[in-house]
Amino acid sequence: MSTQKISSNVTLTTLLNIKQRGEKFACLTAYDACFASILCEAGVEVLLVGDSLGMVLQGHDSTLPVTMNDMIYHMQCVKRGNRGALLMADLPFMSYASESQTLENAAALMRAGANIVKLEGGAWIANTTRLLAERGIPVCAHMGLTPQSVNRIGGFHVQGRDPEQAQSIVEEAQLLQEAGASVLLLECVPKILAKTVTEGLQIPVIGIGAGPDTTAQIMVLHDVLGVSPITPKFVKNFLVDSKNGIPGAIESYVKAVKERTFPAEEHCFD
Ligand code: KIV
Repeated sequence: MSTQKISSNVTLTTLLNIKQRGEKFACLTAYDACFASILCEAGVEVLLVGDSLGMVLQGHDSTLPVTMNDMIYHMQCVKRGNRGALLMADLPFMSYASESQTLENAAALMRAGANIVKLEGGAWIANTTRLLAERGIPVCAHMGLTPQSVNRIGGFHVQGRDPEQAQSIVEEAQLLQEAGASVLLLECVPKILAKTVTEGLQIPVIGIGAGPDTTAQIMVLHDVLGVSPITPKFVKNFLVDSKNGIPGAIESYVKAVKERTFPAEEHCFD
């Protein structure tokens, strides 16, 4: 299977069809127009304007300082460079604490160009997910390591290693699908748990540090290009071996995801 440019706009139906065919799709974070267009040219199906921008662009030590204005600005930039990818945007920390705030902020991201919004949490975001989905705003539920809860979790640690927590993740993922989530994102969980969750759901599951069995992979752009200050176990620098600079690195990432050579064993948690 070779990488290919996106020939028509990627929609949620495209992602669902990829899952149903047993194939994989590739996602990356993007924060500006130039990179958005390079990523599309390389065949990345989903661009996430992630609140990771607080760490990789702004230099904070967590995603908590990111504001709605930051998210709207970067979403607008990415939208201008987009060439057919599905655009996902994070609702940042404390921007979905009440119903009216959630609706207002999700609508602002959609008006800025998002096709789907992502929010972090388990069972407690089920009502929020339903609220948005019923009003035509698709939701990606982000579970496992949820960086906006870093202070409660006590650091950026793998989640779901103990059997009770693993069982909750399986059950709450089902609940979120039933509440209307269109996509699930699983961050930093044991690969066997990600496999169980993915096989139990109809919706596509995007993984980061979640092993090879999810429907899709996502990485922070700066990690793929080796410019992040820290390199967690699940990260691979695709630029080091690229013969065509940044476009070549992104093409290699897309190819590796689709051909299932990334993530390899050394990038996975048990
Ligand atoms: O904000 C972000 O970039 C993310 C990814 C790490 C999945 O949520």
